[in-house]
Amino acid sequence: MPSLAIIGAQWGDEGKGKITDYLSGEADMVVRFQGGNNAGHTIIVGDRVFKLHGLPSGVVRPGKLAVIGNGVVVNMEELLVEVEHVLENGCNIDGLRISDRAHLIMNYHKKLDGAEEAYRGKGVVGTTKKGIGPAYQDKMARIGFRAGDLLEEDLLKEKIRFLIGYKNDLLGMLGGERCGCTVESLFAKMMGWKEAVGDRICDTSVLINDALDAGDNVLFEGAQGAMLDIDHGTYPYVTSSATCGGGICTGAGVAPNRIGQVIGCLKAYTTRVGEGPFVTGLQGEEERRLQVKGGEIGVTTGRSRRCGWLDLVVAEHATRMCGFTSLAMTKLDVLNDYEEIPVCTAYRIDGETVEHLPASISRMQRAEPVYKTMKGWKSWNDTEAVVREGYDALPAEMRGYIEYVEDFLKVPADIVSIGPDRNETIDRRGGRWWD
Ligand code: GDP
Ligand code: IMO
Ligand code: MG
Repeated sequence: MPSLAIIGAQWGDEGKGKITDYLSGEADMVVRFQGGNNAGHTIIVGDRVFKLHGLPSGVVRPGKLAVIGNGVVVNMEELLVEVEHVLENGCNIDGLRISDRAHLIMNYHKKLDGAEEAYRGKGVVGTTKKGIGPAYQDKMARIGFRAGDLLEEDLLKEKIRFLIGYKNDLLGMLGGERCGCTVESLFAKMMGWKEAVGDRICDTSVLINDALDAGDNVLFEGAQGAMLDIDHGTYPYVTSSATCGGGICTGAGVAPNRIGQVIGCLKAYTTRVGEGPFVTGLQGEEERRLQVKGGEIGVTTGRSRRCGWLDLVVAEHATRMCGFTSLAMTKLDVLNDYEEIPVCTAYRIDGETVEHLPASISRMQRAEPVYKTMKGWKSWNDTEAVVREGYDALPAEMRGYIEYVEDFLKVPADIVSIGPDRNETIDRRGGRWWD
């Protein structure tokens, strides 16, 4: 019953897409279990670049089942555009399956996302405006559309009738633009979705559990990161789903004892998109240097990512919330050519040293980082040799940096990533992930 999960250990964009793609070589099934097309996962294979939002990264490799679990919110319109993108790049979607319990993101959710953000004024979250929050609100309020509804026309019509009126009233109240659709036009649009993917909609919990029973290799692909978790993240500056380990059970329909290893994807420094506290965040030239070296531009929104040093208080919180059994440390190459590299090991808040992430946002905002200074390393010019010869060929100071993090978190950094390409990956387990 082998299963692996990949979860972001920070505020998203840690390189989960790349690591999922790397590990999916021997997977039979790749499963998304939360979030929606607020995610932006980049996969680079030679000269092909994939930017996936709603599709599981498994679609990039032929012959895998790519499953959208019940915990995901799906924008069918945008998913179909993405399907075109992968088809044009020589992949197929034969393995795509969508949970009948997955909720749908509608146009009015996107409008509400914009209207709610405008209404919040100074308290803006800085969402991706993809309608994620409003879609999850409807799920909790028990009025959402589920993918399975597309297969039940009478139920669908009844829901459409209720929801168009309800959402337009809500949009009017928030000063948002109303939806132009009628019951007939929305029904026709949704029938188009049924036509396109209706035969992919099924009970994905049964599919995943059957695969596990059969001994197939199942890879769970997290979106966002632990700090954006609705419960355990920097609330209210979070997304609306369960991004930590527990989200796998509820969002894929698998029991806790079916989750094998959990790989924490940890960027060698920290980035964050949108608002909210960022204790190790940098300003000015220092921030710019990381932004430029790391190419830190958001895949989904095109916004520049805020950048700062590695925060081990954050990483410890993520490790505790997700139960990481391995780390995949990414983007170490971006730290080349620094004389010294600060790593945050604790916070100072109101004169006290704090080792665990506080729940209070105002305490987070007052927190000062306590830094340990690590020795930097010079860049090397033969990445291929490093990839070929493995971990020991890395500069000693870089190994020192990695091993400090391993000791601090008590989790081995089994994967080290030194470039965006699938090949620029050092696998310290020599590919033995599914034994
Ligand atoms: P995700 O959302 O966690 O999948 O990450 P994103 O794709 O949003 O952002 C990570 C970015 O870093 C992408 O542009 C990747 O191609 C790139 N990347 C991943 N790993 C590495 C690495 O080790 N080094 C460098 N330089 N870039 C990387
Ligand atoms: P991947 O999977 C980085 C952030 C948004 C915003 C907050 C809430 O690529 O790592 P939402 O639209 O979800 O309601 O926005 O969460 N956010 C992400 N930041 N990477 C992501 O996904 C993100 N998905 C959402 O910027 O601050
Ligand atoms: Mg991303």
